[in-house]
Amino acid sequence: MKSVSPVNSLNRLRILLLGKNGQVGWELQRSLAPLGEVIALDRAETHPIYGELSGDLSNLDALAATVRAVRPDVIVNAAAHTAVDRAESEPDLARTLNALAPGVLADEAQKLGAWLVHYSTDYVFDGSGDQPWRETDAPAPLSVYGRTKLEGEQRIQASGAKHLIFRTSWVYGARGGNFAKTMLRLAQERDRLTVIDDQFGAPTGAELLADITAQVTAQAISRMNQTASETLQGIYHLAAGGETTWNGYARHVVAEALRLKPDLSIKAQEIAAVPTSAFPTPAVRPHNSRLDTQKLQSAFGLVLPPWQQGVNRMLAETV
Ligand SMILES: NC(=O)c1ccc[n+]([C@@H]2O[C@H](COP(=O)([O-])OP(=O)(O)OC[C@H]3O[C@@H](n4cnc5c(N)ncnc54)[C@H](OP(=O)(O)O)[C@@H]3O)[C@@H](O)[C@H]2O)c1
Repeated sequence: MKSVSPVNSLNRLRILLLGKNGQVGWELQRSLAPLGEVIALDRAETHPIYGELSGDLSNLDALAATVRAVRPDVIVNAAAHTAVDRAESEPDLARTLNALAPGVLADEAQKLGAWLVHYSTDYVFDGSGDQPWRETDAPAPLSVYGRTKLEGEQRIQASGAKHLIFRTSWVYGARGGNFAKTMLRLAQERDRLTVIDDQFGAPTGAELLADITAQVTAQAISRMNQTASETLQGIYHLAAGGETTWNGYARHVVAEALRLKPDLSIKAQEIAAVPTSAFPTPAVRPHNSRLDTQKLQSAFGLVLPPWQQGVNRMLAETV
């Protein structure tokens, strides 16, 4: 790996993006581009300036060496072990990816004076109650995924690096498969669907997450440069507005698809509501995934649109 000194004239940021092909990572490639030079990595890349780089979160030494070679102003980590059920049977790998690797990124960011932008999840909470979770609520994860993501947050906070941690929920991307596309396909194949109606949250588009990430990162950096005392770093809840259940989400998808394309051949006469217990899974899911996003909206003067807006847009591009 070649070592390159920073070239940040004209406030052009050098951004190291990890997990570039994930749902959020893919959209970040687009949304971060106007902020400066984006070095976007999957597990391994050969870069024309920086040489051989590793974005493999399971190789902690190579990851640290990559940060030292690139010397970014901002690291955006969109890579993670996101297979919630598989994490139950591979807890060591999940911990390396979700906790140890973010800790390494944070330590390297701290040494460089760089920002670390990272994503976490409502799975750090136990899903009890019916109120949206606030940043100040006590975490109590129910699964390996939730525990390892919480440890990742804690390692970042302990590092002393400037950081933004966005806890989000129910993420979908327009690219590749997603819940909405699966429901539409099943509604065309089957007479009856059964979909869980006792988990509550807000479907949040990867596009929205990436756009907010770029805006918040740019604001956090410029406002800190202007007023050294302004500390905008920390944990923020970030999800689309409103709430629904998986069943409500499925119903909305089918209704909106029919509105967009009235001749769509929908076979399903019923989308029946069932409890979570109807679909046993290795990992326990929280019932209450609602996130209170007031802190982010007021700190950065942003509005998080209702979840239907992003889902409708995705359907308009898909159906
Ligand atoms: N999806 C959700 O509903 C949700 C909810 C709350 C929070 N989040 C958080 O949001 C962030 C982005 O999630 P997402 O939905 O975009 O997830 P995603 O689509 O699963 O993307 C994760 C990316 O990480 C990559 N990855 C896996 N193992 C890796 C490794 N060892 N080294 C480098 N990259 C590796 C994956 O590559 P491969 O596909 O090749 O394995 C994938 O590109 C994550 O921090 C996640 O925990 C997601």
